[in-house]
Amino acid sequence: MKILVTGGAGFIGSNFIKYLIRNNPDYKIINLDKLTYAGNLENLKDLNDNKNYKFIQGDIGDEKLINKIVKEVNVIINFAAETHVDRSIANPKAFIETSVLGTYTLLKSALDNNIDKYIQISTDEVYGSTDSETFSEYSPFLPNSPYSASKASADLMCRAFHSTYGLNTIVMHSCNVYGPNQYPEKLIPLVITNLIEGKKVPVYGKGHQIREWIYVEDFASAIELTLKEGMGGEVYNIGSAQRLQNIEVVKTILSHMGKGEEEIEYVKDREGHDFRYAVNSSKIRSELGWKHTKQFQSGIKDTIDWYINNKEWWSKLKSGEYMEYYKKQYLQRK
Ligand code: NAD
Ligand code: DAU
Repeated sequence: MKILVTGGAGFIGSNFIKYLIRNNPDYKIINLDKLTYAGNLENLKDLNDNKNYKFIQGDIGDEKLINKIVKEVNVIINFAAETHVDRSIANPKAFIETSVLGTYTLLKSALDNNIDKYIQISTDEVYGSTDSETFSEYSPFLPNSPYSASKASADLMCRAFHSTYGLNTIVMHSCNVYGPNQYPEKLIPLVITNLIEGKKVPVYGKGHQIREWIYVEDFASAIELTLKEGMGGEVYNIGSAQRLQNIEVVKTILSHMGKGEEEIEYVKDREGHDFRYAVNSSKIRSELGWKHTKQFQSGIKDTIDWYINNKEWWSKLKSGEYMEYYKKQYLQRK
C-alpha cells in the first residue's frame, strides 16, 4: 500500500499517520502538508528516521506538484482543510480555496493516475443542525457556516467523480474529534490550556449547544478499516453517540482539573451557531464491523494529562499570530 496523506501534519492527520504506521509498518506514506498555522511537524518527529515515511511541504491545489506525487501512490486520503468555524466566519476565502479547488485538484489527479481508492475526510457539519434527529448517510446537506459549506462542496465533488468517471471515492463524515495534538483554538484544548495558564474559559451563549465526541484514535481506526475494506462510492458516518452540551464538557474538564465554575465566562454566541450535531454511525458498524472503544470520561482524562505534560508543544502555539487572533475574537465576544 502506497498512500498519499494530505494535511497529515495537523491534529487528526498526524494521529492517523502514527496509528497506521504502528499497525502496518510496511505501508509507505507520503505526507503532503502546506504547514498553515495548524500544521506542525513536531507532531510527527518520531517518524523522522522511518524509511517508509516521507514529508513534502506543499498545497493540495498545486496541480503540478500533486500530479508528480500522485504517480508514486495508489491511495489518497485527504485531511487537508481549513478547519476552524470561527475563522471561516471572519475569512472564508482560504476555506473555499483548499476544500473546493484543492479537493478538485486531488480528484482530477487521482483520476488521471488511476488511483485505486480516494478517501475524503469530512464532517457531520455538512448536514447542518438538528434539534432531535440523528444524521444518516442519506440526510440532506444543509451546511450553515462557510467552513461546512466548503466541506459539503468537496464531498459532492467526490460523489460526482464516482458517478461520472467511476473513481473509487469514499467520504467519511465524523462527529467532533478530540485528543492529543489538537490546535488550542478548538473548545477542548482551549479550555484545558486556558485553565493551566490561569485564564478564564469562554463559553459561547449559554453553552447549551450539543456536540458528539469521538477520541482521535477511534476515528483513526475507522479510517484504517475504511482504507482496507471500504467500498468505492460509499459514504460512512463516524460517531460515538456520546452527545454532550458544551457546558457539560467544560464542567467535566473543570472537575478533572480541580477548578470551579467561577472560571467560566459566558460570552457572545457564534454567528449562525449550529445548535446540535448527532450522528447515526450504524452503517460502518454493521457493514465493516467498526466500533469505538474510548468512553468520553476516560478520553478526556487522557487528553487533559497530555496537555499538562506537553506544555512546550502548545504554549508556543498560543503566542504570536494565534494570540492576535484570539484577542480579537475574545474582545469581540465579550
Ligand atoms: P487541523 O486544522 O488540525 O489540520 C489541517 C491540516 O491541513 C494542517 O496540517 C494544515 O497545514 C493542512 N492544510 C491546510 N490547507 C492545506 C492545503 N491547501 N494544502 C495542504 N495542506 C493543507 O484539522 P483537523 O482537526 O486535523 O482536521 C482534519 C480533517 O478532518 C479536516 O478535513 C476536517 O474538516 C476534518 N474533520 C475534523 C473534525 C474535528 O473535530 N477536528 C471532525 C470531523 C472532520
Ligand atoms: O463536528 C465536527 C467539527 O467539529 C469539525 O468539522 C470542525 O473542524 C471542528 O472544528 C469542530 O467544529 P465545532 O465548531 O463543533 O468545534 P469547536 O471546538 O470550535 O467548538 C465546539 C463547540 O464549543 C461549539 O458549539 C462552539 C463552542 N465553543 C467553542 C470555542 C472555541 C465555545 O463555547 N467556546 C469557545 O471558545
